[in-house]
Amino acid sequence: MLSIMKLSVFQILAFLLFSSFLYCQAVVRHTFIVQDTEYTKLCSTKTILTVNGQFPGPTLYVNKGETIIVDVYNKAHYNITIHWY
Ligand SMILES: *[C@@H]1O[C@H](CO)[C@@H](O)[C@H](O)[C@H]1NC(C)=O
Repeated sequence: MLSIMKLSVFQILAFLLFSSFLYCQAVVRHTFIVQDTEYTKLCSTKTILTVNGQFPGPTLYVNKGETIIVDVYNKAHYNITIHWY
C-alpha cells in the first residue's frame, strides 16, 4: 500500500514537472506593421499611425507562462517607440 502511494506521488510530481515544462515552452508570435494611415473624421482627413491598420493597436491576450515575440515593422516616415500597458 505504501509503495503504491509513493508511486502515485511520484507520478503526480512527474506529471506536474512535465506539464509545467510544456506550459513554459509556449511561444506566441505576432507581427505589428506600423504605418501612416489616412483617417477622415468630420470631413477632415489626417494621417495617423496605425498598427495593422488599427488605432488603437490590437489587444494581445497572453496566458500565464507564455512567451510572446512581437515583430514590429516600422513603415512610418519617422522613428517610433512601442509600449504596452
Ligand atoms: C531614426 O533612428 C536612426 C537610428 O538611431 C537615426 O539614424 C535616424 O536619424 C533617425 N531618423 C529620424 C527621422 O529621426
